[in-house]
Amino acid sequence: MLSLSRFILGVSLYSALASCQTTPFDPREASIASIHNALFSRLTTCRDVVTAHIARIEAYNPLINAIITINPEALSIADEFDDALASGNATGALFCIPVLLKDNYDALPMVTTGGCAALNASTPTLDGPAVTALRRAGAVILGKANLHELALEGLSVSSYGGQTINSYDSARTPGGSSGGSGAAIAASLAVLGTGSDTVNSLRSPASANSLYSFRPTWGLISRAGVVPISYTQDTIGAMGRSLMDIATALTVMAGVGYDPADNATAKIPASVKDTDYTLALSPSSAPALSSLRIGVLLGFFNFTSGPDVDPVNAAMTQVLSVLSSSGATLINITDTSTYNATAISSAMDVQQLEYREALTAYLSSSNLTGPRPQSMPELYLNTSEYLVIPSQYSYVNNALISSTSNSSYAAKQRLITNLTTTLHSLFASNDLDAIIYPEQKNLVVPIGSPSQSGRNGILAALTGSPVITMPVASVIRATQRQ
Ligand SMILES: *[C@@H]1O[C@H](CO)[C@@H](O)[C@H](O)[C@H]1NC(C)=O
Ligand SMILES: *[C@@H]1O[C@H](CO)[C@@H](O)[C@H](O)[C@H]1NC(C)=O
Ligand SMILES: *[C@@H]1O[C@H](CO)[C@@H](O)[C@H](O)[C@H]1NC(C)=O
Ligand SMILES: *[C@@H]1O[C@H](CO)[C@@H](O)[C@H](O)[C@H]1NC(C)=O
Ligand SMILES: *[C@@H]1O[C@H](CO)[C@@H](O)[C@H](O)[C@H]1NC(C)=O
Ligand SMILES: *[C@@H]1O[C@H](CO)[C@@H](O)[C@H](O)[C@H]1NC(C)=O
Ligand SMILES: *[C@@H]1O[C@H](CO)[C@@H](O)[C@H](O)[C@H]1NC(C)=O
Ligand SMILES: *[C@@H]1O[C@H](CO)[C@@H](O)[C@H](O)[C@H]1NC(C)=O
Ligand SMILES: *[C@@H]1O[C@H](CO)[C@@H](O)[C@H](O)[C@H]1NC(C)=O
Ligand SMILES: *[C@@H]1O[C@H](CO)[C@@H](O)[C@H](O)[C@H]1NC(C)=O
Repeated sequence: MLSLSRFILGVSLYSALASCQTTPFDPREASIASIHNALFSRLTTCRDVVTAHIARIEAYNPLINAIITINPEALSIADEFDDALASGNATGALFCIPVLLKDNYDALPMVTTGGCAALNASTPTLDGPAVTALRRAGAVILGKANLHELALEGLSVSSYGGQTINSYDSARTPGGSSGGSGAAIAASLAVLGTGSDTVNSLRSPASANSLYSFRPTWGLISRAGVVPISYTQDTIGAMGRSLMDIATALTVMAGVGYDPADNATAKIPASVKDTDYTLALSPSSAPALSSLRIGVLLGFFNFTSGPDVDPVNAAMTQVLSVLSSSGATLINITDTSTYNATAISSAMDVQQLEYREALTAYLSSSNLTGPRPQSMPELYLNTSEYLVIPSQYSYVNNALISSTSNSSYAAKQRLITNLTTTLHSLFASNDLDAIIYPEQKNLVVPIGSPSQSGRNGILAALTGSPVITMPVASVIRATQRQ
């Protein structure tokens, strides 16, 4: 299932070059700043940085099965960057930063499989705009990461890539659907990984792999050139090992601004695209915790004790107590009938009504080449190289016969509008700066489980609200420094 030819290419290039290295770059826990310090003080070269990451992929990917394609051009891009460095022309917020793309992002010269074996030859003719922005900022695209097939569940198993393993607990999934990116970044196989989030898919792998991630405001980042599921719910973004690194990724990806290929971007005022999100992280601009009012969304917790729930509640109790003792005002949001993720999903989730039209528009686009199914029904009805796990049968079967013309579609959209107003009213009436809840009420499930229960992504997914996912321990450390 793995694209072995690409792997062998990367690996043999590495072997040929390893002999001329003196001090190999150590990719473990590398950050944008640490790589830039090493490059600009001439302690390393871009080729060393990229070679070291490819060597680490070679050593550790067999344990976690996170990467499905290596970019055959990664080392030649690194060489160009070394030339730029030598001529004093090294620019870009992501100069020489190794990035892995979830394999639903179009990026030359690689196939975009979405983890689906039926798309093993589906090849983009151009980069998606977010990928163009990453490259212009200096990113070195190392390759593609596995995902739950076509990003439809949170287990990160696919017909093309198999099962990705959690980097911290080999018995459990890495969450998903962007689980290949999550496991890979946790294992320091790259500095940043990209993902897409239709309900949970950037935040679940971040929470399961002790990473930072963001789900951007709907429309902030163009989704063109990323295999779609849902016009209403899809967003794209990144995950990393520090807040500064993902703030840089957000700055670069949102820098695309208005994109006629994704009309959701028209919702965002033009001036927003020049925002530098890293500036908000300087100690002088961060607001004092004592000035913050934070709503605790009690409906998004599971208070029934159990082995997969208790560790989540213990961590949340600790972080709430630290926030409170550091001066933040916590306000319990007790409306558990409105803020019930299961109830919101079953009443309002519109994926099954949008998936067929969205995927068909993508597959039939002239921006793809190579043999492939030309429509969503053709993929599911006329090929056999895909994986639909039993918990997804009804999803796919409904999607095959549903569309945005169904009367239930307009009804669900009205409920979404109402939920959005209700959420905004909650913020306004309580004068809230943020709300807090666990991304998952319980741990990620053991490998082989039928589905991932207990996730809370739906509220932001439907209301288009921005979310930052952070490891709880990092919040506690930050408050201790204040
Ligand atoms: C510096 O980089 C810019 C942008 O990539 C390029 O247009 C220019 O030719 C380069 N200049 C030199 C001296 O290499
Ligand atoms: C794609 O899958 C088909 C069917 O399994 C196989 O015949 C073909 O060789 C694969 N193509 C590539 C490029 O891997
Ligand atoms: C193909 O890509 C171009 C350039 O980004 C874009 O304008 C166009 O909308 C895309 N076509 C489709 C069908 O996605
Ligand atoms: C926005 O784009 C979608 C397809 O991407 C299309 O279905 C919809 O009609 C467009 N909406 C408007 C208001 O142009
Ligand atoms: C809550 O947790 C218990 C066990 O701790 C579990 O049996 C139950 O299914 C969970 N409920 C929800 C809604 O996730
Ligand atoms: C908020 O809710 C939690 C959980 O039910 C409870 O332990 C805590 O006492 C409540 N705080 C306030 C101020 O009511
Ligand atoms: C949440 O909604 C589900 C589905 O409607 C329901 O079964 C469950 O009892 C609700 N939970 C709470 C705490 O209201
Ligand atoms: C499936 O293949 C048959 C035979 O080529 C074709 O007539 C039919 O239109 C295809 N169905 C879909 C949904 O693509
Ligand atoms: C959409 O409409 C079709 C045709 O009436 C129906 O078979 C299908 O179940 C509907 N889908 C949903 C999700 O309501
Ligand atoms: C809108 O939401 C409010 C608050 O949750 C609820 O009371 C009201 O019934 C909803 N209206 C509709 C039309 O669903």
